[in-house]
Amino acid sequence: MIGRFSLLPEQASTVAGQVDTLYFFLVALSAFFSVLIAFVLFAFVIRYRRSRARKVVPTGGGFLALELTWTVIPFILVMIIFGWGARVFVTMRTPPDDAMQVYVVGKQWMWKAQHIEGRREINELHVPVGRPVRLLLTSEDVIHSFYVPAFRVKQDAVPGRYTSMWFEADKVGEYHLFCAEFCGTAHARMIGRIVVMEPAEFQNWLSGGSGSGDMLAEGEKLFEQLGCRSCHQAETGSRGPTLAGLFNKQVQLADGRTVVADDTYLREAILNPQAAVVAGYQPIMPTFKGQVSEESLLQLLAYIKSLQGPKAAGADAAAGSGKAHAMLPVHGGQS
Ligand code: CUA
Repeated sequence: MIGRFSLLPEQASTVAGQVDTLYFFLVALSAFFSVLIAFVLFAFVIRYRRSRARKVVPTGGGFLALELTWTVIPFILVMIIFGWGARVFVTMRTPPDDAMQVYVVGKQWMWKAQHIEGRREINELHVPVGRPVRLLLTSEDVIHSFYVPAFRVKQDAVPGRYTSMWFEADKVGEYHLFCAEFCGTAHARMIGRIVVMEPAEFQNWLSGGSGSGDMLAEGEKLFEQLGCRSCHQAETGSRGPTLAGLFNKQVQLADGRTVVADDTYLREAILNPQAAVVAGYQPIMPTFKGQVSEESLLQLLAYIKSLQGPKAAGADAAAGSGKAHAMLPVHGGQS
């Protein structure tokens, strides 16, 4: 990794090759036209330099073929760039369903990561090789940007909201992690490393470490402490909708909107509940803004996401009967 000069960082993820190929194509295309134009310009300067022997030909129509050529060729080239770029972009933005989830919080000036199984790390991220990893990112203070050059991925971590990114490392090793958004005096020191390990080794690493509980257990503890349980019980008829099986389902809100209960919605529902009241319920939930840290919020989220809904198919038939509890979000997912 160090010592050998190369134009680009080494490639260590499944998309790195695709990104680089597209990049070289763009560079080659630009270089080709730059050289061509410079050459033609130079040739014309020589050929058509002012001399008494030459008369200036008046310009004006009559060059249809030429006009078409220099319109159609660039159009085709630009569409190739667009199509190719869009394909790579969509690949990079669509995490596979089986992606392993890791939660990351940026703050001045460090990266804090927690794994579902409980291990936490600072300015380091351990991941297994050959497995897609999805990061859910947020920030405690200002905008930071999670950048791993060897993976060719970069994503802003924005305070007050969740962003996500994914990658699949395909080479065991250690790689640079940078903050790529100026975030204050020690921005330049907000660096770390990504450690890509063999799966077995990674499992070993996961089960080691200090005795902090796993995210789900921590989340469940918070769920009790903050009193979430008293309203969001599994049984129907409680003051708040049940949260079992809620994640990624559609929710009908009191203001008529239908939203998907994703990470962002759950975050909003906890911090700003009045904006996310589920249809059929009273807006009685207090806000938890300022009471939970970003990391605790992620634990709570991980716990809520882990709650399984009732498997009974008959539950869907009960929905729409008009009773309040029939509007439970857990029954709302038809898609
Ligand atoms: Cu964090 Cu720059």
